[in-house]
Amino acid sequence: MRKKITVVGGGNVGATVAQRIAERDYADIVLVDVVEGMPQGKALDLAESGPILGYDSNVTGTNTYDETKDSDLVVITAGIARKPGMTRDDLLRTNKSIMQSVVKEVVQKSPNSILLIVSNPLDAMVYEAYKQSGFPKERVLGMAGVLDTARMRTFIAQETNVSVEDVQAYVLGGHGDTMVPLVRYATVGGLPLDHWMSSEKIDAIVTRTRQGGGEIVSLLKTGSAFYAPSAAVLQMADAIILDKKRVVPAAAYLEGEYGVNNVFIGVPVVLGESGVEKIIELELTDEEKAGFDNSIAAVEELIDAMDNL
Ligand code: NAI
Ligand code: 2OP
Repeated sequence: MRKKITVVGGGNVGATVAQRIAERDYADIVLVDVVEGMPQGKALDLAESGPILGYDSNVTGTNTYDETKDSDLVVITAGIARKPGMTRDDLLRTNKSIMQSVVKEVVQKSPNSILLIVSNPLDAMVYEAYKQSGFPKERVLGMAGVLDTARMRTFIAQETNVSVEDVQAYVLGGHGDTMVPLVRYATVGGLPLDHWMSSEKIDAIVTRTRQGGGEIVSLLKTGSAFYAPSAAVLQMADAIILDKKRVVPAAAYLEGEYGVNNVFIGVPVVLGESGVEKIIELELTDEEKAGFDNSIAAVEELIDAMDNL
């Protein structure tokens, strides 16, 4: 039987995720939003693209959760997007309450689903979704690392003038200014970055990666990135629905890994049909570990702030 994927939030990221998944033709999609008519209109528009693009994915738009029943995967993008001058943390209060109401509905209708959280502030929202859902840790995760890593790979490919396909990189930690682009694990054609560029260029790429979300916000002015974020969600949806066992960075619940407990933060995981099937513990130098610890502290502070709202 065809798989079923619900996308909550039919805005820029949600609608583009629905489009990308429909075009993969392996699942039916339910698009949910609070705005009346909008998810229905976008869903119909996507369904009418099927004959041209050659997909049979059934796309439904709705303002309630009945149609989401028995989804295999639920992608949550509901929330307000970051505007220029607004930090991710400013979003905390509003998006916490949105996340609570959405997860409550989703869990009732799809108790066996996997929750893939996109809403910001990401590391706090995925923690909230985990708490609210009561799901096992394997079935709740957040998208950020694939996006942050893709940004770093883009900048490296542009600097070295080689295909993005031959650039590997890893970004760990929280989805914010404290994220940890791991230069030591970045390679171009298997060779380390310092073979290709000066340390000044490497530092500039690290800084630009950390500020990647803000760079798009300041250009768009009326919203935040959605093409690369939805592509990142698609890669993770593929891994789950097709049980690919991809090794990707994702916000996963740590219980002792990296010496950390009770926090969702970006680490490499094996992603398959059960969700987070394994957390991979990279060996970190003292400097990398200090950066990761700093990022953990920032996420813990965010969660404390959210818990105290
Ligand atoms: P958007 O504003 O275009 O869409 C958000 C949608 O959520 C709106 O259509 C809104 O009506 C809907 N919504 C609000 N409350 C809802 C509720 N209770 N139930 C259902 N739908 C509800 O924003 P965009 O650009 O799609 O971004 C969505 C979220 O994803 C934001 O929080 C943004 O910051 C975050 N984001 C996270 C990324 C990541 O790497 N984790 C990357 C890009 C965006
Ligand atoms: C991004 O990194 C806004 O978190 C979002 O583009």
